[in-house]
Amino acid sequence: MAVPSRRQPLHHATPPADAEAPLGLRFPDGFVWGAATSAYQIEGATKEDGRGESVWDTFSHTPGRIKGGDTGDVAADHYHRYAGDLDLMRDLGLRSYRFSIAWPRIQADGAGAPNQRGLDFYRRLVAGLHERGIAPMATLFHWDLPQALQDAGGWESRDVALRFADYADAVFTALGDDVPVWLTINEPKTVVQNGYLQGHHAPGRQDPEAAHLVAHHLQLAHGLAVQALRSRGGPGRIGPAFNLHPCYPADSSPAAAAATTLYDGYENRFYLDSVLTGRYPADVLDDLGPDSRLARGIRDGDLDIIATPVDLLAVQYYTPIYVTAAGGTVTRWPTSQADWQQIHPDGLYDILTRVTRDYGPLPISITENGLPTTDALGPDDTVDDAGRVTFLRDHIAAAHRAIADGVPLESFHVWSLMDNFEWAEGYDQRWGLIHVDYPTQRRILKRSAHWYRSVIADNAV
Ligand code: NOJ
Repeated sequence: MAVPSRRQPLHHATPPADAEAPLGLRFPDGFVWGAATSAYQIEGATKEDGRGESVWDTFSHTPGRIKGGDTGDVAADHYHRYAGDLDLMRDLGLRSYRFSIAWPRIQADGAGAPNQRGLDFYRRLVAGLHERGIAPMATLFHWDLPQALQDAGGWESRDVALRFADYADAVFTALGDDVPVWLTINEPKTVVQNGYLQGHHAPGRQDPEAAHLVAHHLQLAHGLAVQALRSRGGPGRIGPAFNLHPCYPADSSPAAAAATTLYDGYENRFYLDSVLTGRYPADVLDDLGPDSRLARGIRDGDLDIIATPVDLLAVQYYTPIYVTAAGGTVTRWPTSQADWQQIHPDGLYDILTRVTRDYGPLPISITENGLPTTDALGPDDTVDDAGRVTFLRDHIAAAHRAIADGVPLESFHVWSLMDNFEWAEGYDQRWGLIHVDYPTQRRILKRSAHWYRSVIADNAV
């Protein structure tokens, strides 16, 4: 395969005037088009049918943590409206729907016999997807850790990884035959960085030593869940869901190159290497030192568990990172409403080809890619999110280029199917193809949703 080496971007392509003008890029037959959500961000119904509390219930109810004091108590009320939402997915022509299972619905306190009413909700959802010809893709953990487990130490505690394996096993027992693709942990790095380094996500800590031990336990939990699926047998495929950030030096100095390599170690190789090669990157371990809590927390055999072979790699791409000689970062491209997001479609091409080059031709699914926009409901009941159309069109074109250059890419999922609770940003950032009018819970297809329907129908942009 011809995967080019890493390149420095030279200029930003100006979007053509008509964001919907077809580029004439057809995808391989069988390419899967989807959209993604997660439980806490859309479900609401946080106190129903035996659901326990999660760290995000606690965090969002802590004054000052979330913009506007928003919480996920109601969110998009998907728990009650899932049937209508399934119909909308069918109307869009989705072939795959990625959702997450809320651990506290299955085990209110994170342990013990599974809660039947919680499982039943996901059984109904999965059955509804099959009835509409949409393949379910289920994430086991999208950040809503049962609060009881947080009280027992959270991901700093090795025992939580073992609890996760039990939870995963209960979910596989109930749904294993009906879900063709499982994702273990959504974006472990975000839990580490936002939850334990910067502290603007649950559980709101700023403790680097804890953070890297948490990273190890999340990786261990991933491996244990893969083993749980393997020991059951059955048809499902499984893999991790990593948000990968292509890292580029901010200038041409050797110091910037060296800083970029280490930055990449923390951002990407820590997660990729451990799962796909059975080793943590030596430069990161050296940087943390032999006495770090991470170094002391790794036990014999852990890396073998973490590296239990997976069936696919789920890649989530939002932004590149430019690293300075001093190890800081700079912004190179226009940013979105999310100040951390630089719009740079070539970054998707670069990360996909790099992963394939460095780790071999493992099947890849893009499980998230998207843009927040300040779109609003117009007087004629339409939402004109042309910026989202351009963004998706350019990223899908980058994915197409990666396939042409040998990347075994199977699917593309837009983040997100519908507007939802964007964590610390609350409901202020809208990421959906479908607009949610929160006061009425009415759903309105945005321009991007109509456009995506035609992309799916044509299997092309
Ligand atoms: C990654 C996360 O998985 C998802 O929950 C979040 O809403 C999007 N990125 C956008 O920030």
